[in-house]
Amino acid sequence: MKVSEALDSRLSVREFLPDPVPVDTIKAILEGAKRAPSGGNLQPWTVYVATGAALDEIKALIRAKLPENPKGEGTEYHIYPPDLTEPYRTRRYRVGEQLYDTIGITRDNKFGRLMQFARNFEFFGAPAALFFAIDRQMQQGQWADLGMFMQSIMLLAREHGLDTCAQEAWAIWHKTLGEHLKMPDNLMLFAGMALGRRDPAHPLNNFRSERAPLEDFVTFLGD
Ligand SMILES: Cc1cc2nc3c(=O)[nH]c(=O)nc-3n(C[C@H](O)[C@H](O)[C@H](O)COP(=O)(O)O)c2cc1C
Repeated sequence: MKVSEALDSRLSVREFLPDPVPVDTIKAILEGAKRAPSGGNLQPWTVYVATGAALDEIKALIRAKLPENPKGEGTEYHIYPPDLTEPYRTRRYRVGEQLYDTIGITRDNKFGRLMQFARNFEFFGAPAALFFAIDRQMQQGQWADLGMFMQSIMLLAREHGLDTCAQEAWAIWHKTLGEHLKMPDNLMLFAGMALGRRDPAHPLNNFRSERAPLEDFVTFLGD
């Protein structure tokens, strides 16, 4: 598969088939992704991989807490800037509206939206899950490095016929997960990632999110 094909066919998959992903495949993906660049070669990433019973245990843990606490435990970092300005604000709401539209959840259907949000904590049915953490001393540059590492995983997953969804939503369960995963205090949970095979028939997976045209964000200097 060409890099351009991996990039173009990657999307955030939000319904997975139950087919298991062999741990050896996940290892091969991580071996490939660790070649991602990082400033000063710090490689500022820590990954937890959960499959099988370990994954079931994590899902059950959150399932038990969700009904009384659907917004979780708060986050240790701002998932979005508190006062998001344009054009970002509109982009954020637009993609949400478009996604809910694909499954017929209307704007006033608060319960439906909450239920769909809760699917994050089932990893959208994926048979494998990853959690990404970063040392608390790390700064913006290293968070960018972690992002490149995660994108490398998402592209390599495509080469293996697999799909992903990066999930910052997991940050709202940082305390429970930190304890459960026995994460050392110096680490901060950034995000989860669902990994598996997409359900090709599901409308959520047949939605292609928009992108701004180059002229909105590129300045070409020179001829
Ligand atoms: C770091 C990161 C965290 C994300 N967290 C979530 C999440 O918690 N839940 C979710 O459904 N999608 C999540 N997404 C997916 C974005 O909504 C998605 O990438 C964006 O809308 C563009 O769509 P695409 O990935 O299908 O191209 C996340 C993406 C990234 C890069």
